[in-house]
Amino acid sequence: MEDMIWRCDLVPQYQAYQQEIHEAIERVLSSGRYILAENVQAFEKEFSEYIGSGYGVGLNSGTDALLFALWCFDLKPGDEVILPPFTAIPTYSAVRHSGAIPVFVDIDPETYLMDLQQVKKAITSRTKAIVPVHLFGNAVDIEELRDIVGPGIYILEDCAQSHGALVRGKKTGRLGDISAFSFYPTKNLGAYGDGGIILTDNKEFANAIRLRRMYGMINKDEFIVDGINSRLDELQAAILRVKLKHLDDMNTRRAELAALYADLLNPKYVQPQKVRDGISSVYHVYSVLCRSNRDELVRYLEGKRIQTNIYYPMPLSKQKGYLSSFSTSTDLPVAQQVSERIIALPFYPEMSEDILRMTVSAIDEFYAGRV
Ligand SMILES: Cc1ncc(COP(=O)(O)O)c(C=O)c1O
Repeated sequence: MEDMIWRCDLVPQYQAYQQEIHEAIERVLSSGRYILAENVQAFEKEFSEYIGSGYGVGLNSGTDALLFALWCFDLKPGDEVILPPFTAIPTYSAVRHSGAIPVFVDIDPETYLMDLQQVKKAITSRTKAIVPVHLFGNAVDIEELRDIVGPGIYILEDCAQSHGALVRGKKTGRLGDISAFSFYPTKNLGAYGDGGIILTDNKEFANAIRLRRMYGMINKDEFIVDGINSRLDELQAAILRVKLKHLDDMNTRRAELAALYADLLNPKYVQPQKVRDGISSVYHVYSVLCRSNRDELVRYLEGKRIQTNIYYPMPLSKQKGYLSSFSTSTDLPVAQQVSERIIALPFYPEMSEDILRMTVSAIDEFYAGRV
């Protein structure tokens, strides 16, 4: 479907770095070393250095990165973990699988990020950790969160959508106690399969996770903790090492395209995600709030062969498979309203400005006469 405008097209990025990627893959294949060898080790070091964190441990997904991080917190029955209801489902499923009680707090209507004042109200004597999510590339102010939370409560940053985003010059992923990244193919730094990593300055956390990702193995015959298998593999690590070199350029292009969208979109029709002072977003997704008629707009754009997506169509507290065992500190009216009005527009670093302008024109045509 050549004339389709995709919400996210991964092929141009592959084509841009094809030769380097093929060479990296070829080196792994001919080395005969496919699991936990030089590429995983090098990527852990290079990515931790890029973010500014002490230790990195590669895992097989962002979901595992969250879960393994939560396992470090020595959770006891009844312990609570605070998270936003407006995020990808894995943030929530990791908290549930950790055995903690998930506690949702509502979001800010302009940034769509966890509302820090709501976090303050939700803290109890059972609160063990907070999981702020840097959504769509926009960063939660972790320093402000730390002031609210005080010592004794862990902060686990969900950085699946924020590779390279900054809070007052510091990269997300080095601001909390531990952080979890995903390398799902659509992410700002994406593999060609699954992958994830935890970053931390806490050596004990890093060592525990390193053991647990490989059956708890200390040497080939001894298993000293009860681990499972969650390894980043050599092929993905080799691909990620190539792409990491281009991440800043890709993020710069994302910011330029986001600025152009913000310039061209009519604020009478749609409202872009707000990025607060001191924060540099890496625009993982370009989402806007529709003033009205969101679902009709989706269909209209589809008719024009412009693909959009809804992240996320409902607060996670309403997802059928996940209904039991959460608590909310308040109702979640903002998450509800945002989920009814939000739409993600075509957006990826290699997207042409023509595609962007066509999308804006189609939105203008749709609303002209309606609003
Ligand atoms: C906010 C958020 N957290 C966690 C994850 C989980 O990552 P993965 O798909 O690599 O398990 C994702 C990606 O899907 C995500 O967007």
